[in-house]
Amino acid sequence: MLNLGKLHFGGDYNPEQWPKDVWKQDIELMQKAGVNLVSLGIFSWAKIERSDGDYHFDWLDEAMELLHEGGISVDMATATASPPAWLSMANPEMRAVNFDGVQLSHGGRQNYCAASSVYRQKADALVEQIASRYAKHPAVVMWHINNEYGCHAPYCFCENSRQAFVAWLKERYSSLDELNASWGTDFWSQRYYDWDELVVPKRTPDGTHPNPGQQIDFKRFTSELTLDLYKMERDIIRKHDSVHPITTNFMSMKFTYAMDYWKWSREMDFVSTDHYLAQHDPDNHIDLAQQADLTRGFASGKQWLLMEHSTSAVNWQPRNYAKTPGQEKRNSASFVARGSQGVMYFQWRQSQAGSERFHSALVPHAGEDTRVFREVSELGNWLAENPGVADYPTDRADVAMVYDYEQFWALMQANLPTQDISYADTVAKIYRSFWENGTRVDFVPGDVDLETLKQYKLVVLPMVHMLSEQEEQVYHDFVAQGGNILISYFSNIADRTLRVKLGGYGGKLVRDLAGVYVEEFYPLREGQGKLSNGYEIGLWSELSRAEGAEVIASFEATDVDGSPALTVRDHSGAKVWYQGTELSLSSQKKFLGEICSQLGVSSEGGGSTEVVRRGPFKFEIDHKANTVSLSS
Ligand code: GLA
Repeated sequence: MLNLGKLHFGGDYNPEQWPKDVWKQDIELMQKAGVNLVSLGIFSWAKIERSDGDYHFDWLDEAMELLHEGGISVDMATATASPPAWLSMANPEMRAVNFDGVQLSHGGRQNYCAASSVYRQKADALVEQIASRYAKHPAVVMWHINNEYGCHAPYCFCENSRQAFVAWLKERYSSLDELNASWGTDFWSQRYYDWDELVVPKRTPDGTHPNPGQQIDFKRFTSELTLDLYKMERDIIRKHDSVHPITTNFMSMKFTYAMDYWKWSREMDFVSTDHYLAQHDPDNHIDLAQQADLTRGFASGKQWLLMEHSTSAVNWQPRNYAKTPGQEKRNSASFVARGSQGVMYFQWRQSQAGSERFHSALVPHAGEDTRVFREVSELGNWLAENPGVADYPTDRADVAMVYDYEQFWALMQANLPTQDISYADTVAKIYRSFWENGTRVDFVPGDVDLETLKQYKLVVLPMVHMLSEQEEQVYHDFVAQGGNILISYFSNIADRTLRVKLGGYGGKLVRDLAGVYVEEFYPLREGQGKLSNGYEIGLWSELSRAEGAEVIASFEATDVDGSPALTVRDHSGAKVWYQGTELSLSSQKKFLGEICSQLGVSSEGGGSTEVVRRGPFKFEIDHKANTVSLSS
């Protein structure tokens, strides 16, 4: 297993924003706070390359030396995230074109088209310079490629992107006929007769949307094309450094979805992620736990690292509430409990100028005599006092939940039975129900294999809208071998090209495994409906009948009264539950609690307290009492 060693503590360090006399003070303060790692050079391209091929490394060499002398290691960035003005102004085709066909202006950040050959050549040359120069530097312990790929302009709709998309489609489909059949292009006169007629899914006339198959393929294509950029940089670094691990920082957040991180993770030495709280949400620690668990899933048994979060407020939400005293320790402890090999932040010193001047940092504008600096220093020293935690992975959960970016993409599209469907919200509600019940969850990908599933007492499939036949088979085999699953509504409706499976919605999963025949969807009106067992519902009901399933509860006060809403079917001891509606949080907790107690799923903590174990270490975090305890 890749070993990231000790628990890391630190953050993005941007010395280029400060005069050199501040740098020395930075090192002293870092030592005081217990900082042992900084990410260096992430947004330094313009400072390093001042005109074409004119590289300046003297300042970076100096910063590296100071850090090294101060005993602080470096997560060396490749600086390719934000191309300099001289480059993007000279090559306008480098800049991304949005859904409406508007080319985005230089002046923000991370504005480049992943299909641009100029961007690729210039990024390649820069990484070559950085990797060859610093590969042997004793301060370097890991590499940080680019920054949050797909954050600001994930999709580019320019002509270069169109050509790359067509090339990608030619690889994916054996013929144009196959593409036409998969996308169903005989609908609305969309049939293509030549590959060159294919377009990117830009804005179409009002009330219409690009073809669903085209839309989802464009999302797949974009994730893969962008991943190619990562691989390009990774391979350059590898030529110069065969020792230190390479990563890029993910955005494991509820509202970020452009990159399929399951696929990305397979290309990375170790997974790292960023996470920011929705600070207006009093229960944001539950979203944090979900994203940390999800990241542990991406890492798939390898070590991972929280690369960025905030010491206090951010600057990009409508209202940027500061963290309350003690909140940051709870947040960090939750990440470490869930497997992070440390705690990193954006950023070391709060910027004096620029868009992020009101974003918190380890050293605030007011300096070291501050609540924030005291709290983070205390935290850095607390981590240093517990080095043994780094040696153990987080204990596996009894429950696995399928998380699949392609479902997210499919369910974001228009023209579904209701626009109120939200993949992210449904997953979050199920996760939250488990969390509040004290039941831990591991996340697994949509193409999970049987051996992985067999480790769990319960596997949950929340709105797994598309499944290939092969994937359906894995769940069949799992149940045949004694596995228990819970399937939610609107699952297995289509194959992976979004063609609907005929003969009863849910096909082999809902009809065959769950034993429920679903014939029509009845989205609920506001306030409509309840279940016969008293559970509260919303959003969804369906006209259905049990065909082999035992009905736990049926719909009432709906247009489909009497149709089964919650069912269970026994397959020689293995259980398949079906949930044909969206339950309220309290009802979802009851339903899952009942399932877990039948299956002997373990739980610990609950309410406002989370209990998570890493081998002999037990983290107990009480979000109401604002306490963190670590025992072994
Ligand atoms: C992201 C970026 C950082 C910074 C933070 C602010 O995570 O990677 O550079 O902008 O957001 O929250």
